[in-house]
Amino acid sequence: MMPLIIKDEYPEKLFREDGKRLDGRSEKELRPIKMEVGVIQNADGSAYLEWGNNKIYAAVYGPREVHPHHLAKPDRGVLRVFYRMATFSVFDRKRPAPGRREKEISMIVADCIEPVLFLELYPGTSFEVFIEVMDADGGTRCASTTVAALALADAGIPMKSLVSAVAVGKIDGKKVVDLSGIEDKAGEADLPIAITWYNEEVSLLQFDGDMDLSEMNEFLIDAKEALEKIHKIQLDVLKRKYLKLQEETKNEEEKEGKKGDD
Ligand code: CDP
Repeated sequence: MMPLIIKDEYPEKLFREDGKRLDGRSEKELRPIKMEVGVIQNADGSAYLEWGNNKIYAAVYGPREVHPHHLAKPDRGVLRVFYRMATFSVFDRKRPAPGRREKEISMIVADCIEPVLFLELYPGTSFEVFIEVMDADGGTRCASTTVAALALADAGIPMKSLVSAVAVGKIDGKKVVDLSGIEDKAGEADLPIAITWYNEEVSLLQFDGDMDLSEMNEFLIDAKEALEKIHKIQLDVLKRKYLKLQEETKNEEEKEGKKGDD
């Protein structure tokens, strides 16, 4: 397991003697990713994501009445995202009240996801996505976007496609994929990217750090490769859910058929 960030104690080097990153990964390797859907009974749709040391839940409600009412739009639905980090999710105790960073990330995740929804078909209603980061270790805005899209799909909300996100960046002068917390803090550049798959357009591109613009294309190529892997995991989770449902329906029908024969 990668060491978590301890404030102001960044390692001098982010690559080991054997050329691997501190958590043993190669430059283009993602952290281990595990996803599940249908994890919260009281939500219309939900998903859980473990991405390296990040542990994140997303719960979706909607379409439903908008509260407060003045936020409703007469000609379309609204997407509201609430990203929160648990007080115990980082090394320093995080203040329980939502801070500026949480509001900003909520807005970013909403902007990334909105293009794949058909909000014009749901006037006067809202879709709400609650994201709870239980454990944070770098890249939580990307992980939150990915898990939120999965939870919306789990809720059966019509979508043009899924959305996936990942951060690429530079550490010790080398381009890497999927920065961990330490790499994010101690590295040179961090570039979170999200993609809407139905049109393969970038719906998020942020940049923090120091890099040459001529490197941008290589960053995008690395990101696309990583995003395809993440998308596959999202699709596999949904496929598993529907295969299970299909199996359950078949068993029910067989039982009903047997009853009818008796
Ligand atoms: O999580 P993300 O990389 O999208 O956002 P960030 O603001 O760049 O934060 C990077 C990492 O710093 C987070 O993932 C957390 O691990 C850590 N962090 C923290 O330790 N304390 C905070 N109050 C906020 C973030």
